[in-house]
Amino acid sequence: MTNNNMFFIANWKMYGNTGNIIKSTTVIKLANTKKYKNHKIIYCPPYTLLNAFYKKVKNSNISIGAQNCHANSDFGAFTGSINTKLIKSTGAKYIIIGHSENRNNNDETNLIINKKIKSALSENLKVVFCIGEKLSDKKNKNTYNVLKKQLKIGLKGIKNFNNIIFAYEPVWSIGTGIIPKRTELIRNINNVIKIINKLKKSINPKILYGGSVNPKNAKELAQIKEINGFLVGGASLNAKKFIDIIKKTYN
Ligand code: 13P
Repeated sequence: MTNNNMFFIANWKMYGNTGNIIKSTTVIKLANTKKYKNHKIIYCPPYTLLNAFYKKVKNSNISIGAQNCHANSDFGAFTGSINTKLIKSTGAKYIIIGHSENRNNNDETNLIINKKIKSALSENLKVVFCIGEKLSDKKNKNTYNVLKKQLKIGLKGIKNFNNIIFAYEPVWSIGTGIIPKRTELIRNINNVIKIINKLKKSINPKILYGGSVNPKNAKELAQIKEINGFLVGGASLNAKKFIDIIKKTYN
């Protein structure tokens, strides 16, 4: 049975404009209906659209999140960078940290991710902490070790995990149209839960899945009881597809 309080997080990456914000009106309407009011629908547009998007959704059931931040929580001479204080001031409540596109393209290490998570938590932002193995890790049967390292270092010194949501995103699944086999996905997510529980006992972590989620596979994925929601890239830019993903999860 599908969970009744799923997360649907739209990661717009380096796409989007005010036209896309206007089109999200249909999603806002859906989010405000009785059937969907317990779900968490969160838009993570580029930094430049955060405040405009916040103004659009502030009286609705939808929240706004950023896609990254600078590791320094204080203000400082970091040209072109945005810290969590600046993000908070836009009205954002969430922040994606550790996305593989930053890990792999911007040399973001697990230690830098740990600093970013601490900075976000200190501003009372809710963290969407991304983890996931590359294709080479999968082929070398190294997925468990990679996930363990990402979680262990990323969460080092953090006492309270209550404001952290985990997003399992196999790197080889992002933007490829390929999703993991059901057994593989369940095994990896259960391993993630096990690793988190070893780091902190008695928490019930929320685990999202990300990677090529679309209206066609949403239902099948949502039936996996360990999955508490989706982090959606490409399909989330199109309001109709995003709505279809949300609806398919329950039909
Ligand atoms: P796609 O849904 O485009 O595969 O992207 C997934 C993702 O990276 C979400 O953070």
